[in-house]
Amino acid sequence: MHDAKPAVVRLVNISKQYEDEAAPIVALRDISLEIGRGEFVAVMGPSGCGKSTLLHILGGMDRPTRGEVWLQDIPLHTCDEESLTRVRRTRVGFVFQFFYLLPTFTVEENVGLPLLLSGRNHAGPKIAALLERVGLANRRKAMPHQLSGGEMQRVAIARAVIHEPPLLLADEPTGNLDSENGARVLDLLRGISAESGTTIVMATHSEAAAECATRVIRMKDGLVI
Ligand SMILES: Nc1ncnc2c1ncn2[C@@H]1O[C@H](COP(=O)(O)OP(=O)(O)OP(=O)(O)O)[C@@H](O)[C@H]1O
Ligand SMILES: [Mg+2]
Repeated sequence: MHDAKPAVVRLVNISKQYEDEAAPIVALRDISLEIGRGEFVAVMGPSGCGKSTLLHILGGMDRPTRGEVWLQDIPLHTCDEESLTRVRRTRVGFVFQFFYLLPTFTVEENVGLPLLLSGRNHAGPKIAALLERVGLANRRKAMPHQLSGGEMQRVAIARAVIHEPPLLLADEPTGNLDSENGARVLDLLRGISAESGTTIVMATHSEAAAECATRVIRMKDGLVI
């Protein structure tokens, strides 16, 4: 027996070129990497180096120009749109810099959205437990505009993990928060990864954020360096 754990995500010779500009833009150049279960990876590098593009390709939100993207046993590079949508809904959670909560939905409705979209009922207890976990049990009926930035991001994190995805992608999740709220969000991400084995890939400009990670990937001009 050998103890090689299957990777949660695997990129093989990934390149991404955007063609819709006057001159083509190469965002990713021949990137290969593997990330395992429970890893918390920070992706760092200057603005425009390809961090968000990398996250989008990992999560099936964008397609590579060349190369293979595997999410567990699924080859995303060969999926049609319908199966990509299904993969995003079931196996991936997303957290963004600007939260993107639905403004006319309450906190608990926002958190329950991924379950609603996949037709799962009786989500009440699960939503309540998760709101307790992110410290917002008492705000479940609040509307997003009644929350602070840090609270909104914790709601967004709860929404991103309620369907227990193996992969959580976070694009500058602390980029819009003060250091105290940023630290709380990072604590939460670290806890989620440790408790449930969720693999997290987080793009960040913050060295403090990267210190929470178990691995740091540095990028420059579309390359991992
Ligand atoms: N839809 C698009 N069309 C054309 N070019 C794009 C598109 N999206 C990104 N790019 C270009 O690809 C390169 C990588 O962009 P990306 O958003 O991945 O960078 P980033 O590392 O996330 O930067 P930041 O730290 O500013 O968020 C940049 O040169 C950007 O201008
Ligand atoms: Mg970005």
